[in-house]
Amino acid sequence: MVDRNGWGGDRPVLTGSRRSPPPSFVEQANVTDSGIYDEFEANWPNCWERAADLLSWNQPYETVLEDEDAPFYRWFAGGRLNAAENCVDRHLEAGRKTHTAIRWEGKHGDRKTYTYRDLYVAINEFAAALRNLGVEEDDVVTIYLPMIPELPIAMLACARIGAPHSVVFAGLSADALATRMDAADSEFLVTCDGYYRRGDAFNQKSKADNARLKLAQDVRTVVVDRLGEDLPHVLGDDEFDYHDLRDRFAGETVDPVPRDAEDMLFLMYTSGTTGEPKGVVHTTGGYLSHVAWTSHAVLDVKPEDTYWCAADIGWITGHSYIVYGPLALGTTTVMYEGTPDYPDRDRLWEIVDRNAVDIFYTAPTAIRAFMKWGEDYPERHDLSSLRLLGSVGEPISPRPWNWYYEHVGNGECPVVDTWWQTETGAVTISTLPGIDEMKPGAAGPGLPGIDVRVVDESGAEVEPGESGYLTIARPWPGMVRTLYDGDDRFRTEYWNQFSDPDRGEWWYASGDAARVDEDGYITVLGRVDDVINVSGRRLSTMEIESAITGVEGVAEAAVVGRSSEANGTDVQAYVSTERGYDDQGEVRGAIIDSIEAAIGPIARPADVLFTPELPKTRSGKIMRRLLEDVANDEDLGDTSALRNPEIVGEIQAEIRGE
Ligand code: PRX
Repeated sequence: MVDRNGWGGDRPVLTGSRRSPPPSFVEQANVTDSGIYDEFEANWPNCWERAADLLSWNQPYETVLEDEDAPFYRWFAGGRLNAAENCVDRHLEAGRKTHTAIRWEGKHGDRKTYTYRDLYVAINEFAAALRNLGVEEDDVVTIYLPMIPELPIAMLACARIGAPHSVVFAGLSADALATRMDAADSEFLVTCDGYYRRGDAFNQKSKADNARLKLAQDVRTVVVDRLGEDLPHVLGDDEFDYHDLRDRFAGETVDPVPRDAEDMLFLMYTSGTTGEPKGVVHTTGGYLSHVAWTSHAVLDVKPEDTYWCAADIGWITGHSYIVYGPLALGTTTVMYEGTPDYPDRDRLWEIVDRNAVDIFYTAPTAIRAFMKWGEDYPERHDLSSLRLLGSVGEPISPRPWNWYYEHVGNGECPVVDTWWQTETGAVTISTLPGIDEMKPGAAGPGLPGIDVRVVDESGAEVEPGESGYLTIARPWPGMVRTLYDGDDRFRTEYWNQFSDPDRGEWWYASGDAARVDEDGYITVLGRVDDVINVSGRRLSTMEIESAITGVEGVAEAAVVGRSSEANGTDVQAYVSTERGYDDQGEVRGAIIDSIEAAIGPIARPADVLFTPELPKTRSGKIMRRLLEDVANDEDLGDTSALRNPEIVGEIQAEIRGE
């Protein structure tokens, strides 16, 4: 059994009744020929030209795939293109200047619309400003902005001048920002004074200031004034006001820099199995082809659609499916600054209704919340504009799936349950909505051209119905190319476990457990490494543990995932204190503060349990696996081989509240 997060293991995972794609959807779908699976198989890897053909290239590529130096694959080698030109300029040239590119829904009813022409102007002016600040091709620009239009503008301005961006989620702490800027040697930062969340103003600049103090390098910083009078701020040395810069460079244009297909488009830090976040490197040609293709084939995006992915651009979902995918296809992408329940729990449905949204893409954690709040909220609004629904980030079980299908989609919209990761860049497992039957609880088969295998420890494929490790046995265009911190870590994290280089087999280890059914549909069970997925956000247990053990008085700590109705998984911390630190309230407070300072509020534990000792093997290793079973109230089996078996019963009683 390889399921460590309590997502199934030996328990049966129920898949609901199958559903066929609604005929009204099929009639108009972008992809309807079921022969596409065989066609991709027969022509692999050249089948991926279909994805590359969705883009405009300054120079055609020479080969589709170069695999001589596996696992360092090269896609569309020799080709040159610019991502910003693909996402903006070419739509102007196609006569779509006045078409809405970004529809921004801000807090308290603030709204902004950017046509493709507006976006073009903003990106050019900001690109000119960045150049003037000294940003050169290949310099990493860190962007630390919340969900405001300046975030995609800054990303695309970077892309225009060939400077890779590294977006750091706005809710992460100063320490987390500093770690990422240091790891990327980034000397440029785009941030803001603050932002609103629910009615409150958050100070972002003070976090950015604190991060800069920790860095050895000088950092030139651009500050977007988001809050105005609500949060006055002063600019220090090397700090520049975004709007002043835009005024200074008003009307300027900057030629898009043709980038090699394999040049880095961006870096995205994500949690790994050690305390150090991994800098996932995505390149220009493969990534953009893959996100454009999946936006077309899986999300069924058409240029005339109003499309809404309700994620945050600070994570990969927003990069691929708020910014690059939809804009590459020239559609209208909705960007929402707020939360789903503010000012009321019908906020999202009000936005769908008012904008006549065609496609809506969100995470299971949100869907579970909608279900809990009840169908009255969606029923208050006309949602008949919707054509397709998507889910991403965590497993979605049949009940919320069906609820979404019935109460949001009115039984008329296919639901695509899309499995992918920061490292895959774009969707890799999903049904094709105009072709495939849906099975609630199973994401679907690998997309055409994606060779997904579920294997045991030895790398042998498991029988249908059994759980195993989710691997991908062939490269794909959107895949991570390496880790910014080094090629060695790239090999050990993803390739060493299941590859057989002597036989030329390179199998990517996803870190997830899954099972496959007789039709090849994959049910994802959860992470099998030291990563936990809380509300669709990846956290490293090691990173949280090191924040806890840094607190004065803490002797040892272990962090595990605990199944949660609302969040999928919650963070459960076990802590033992040194002698003399008996005030648990005080230590608990210090632990929470330390985690928030090291990572951010998203990593706050649902529970901190104090115990005199942690269960250990005779060699002194903390038994995290056992602690996870305790947290999930699982059967523990034989614990007699432990050095301190008696402690397990005590912890169990405490968890059960006995
Ligand atoms: O465990 C899987 C889960 O999210 C992880 C990837 O997290 P991240 O890199 O932050 O990217 C999230 C958005 C793509 C995976 O290893 N995951 C993602 N999508 C699904 C999922 N688990 C089950 N079903 C999904 N559809």
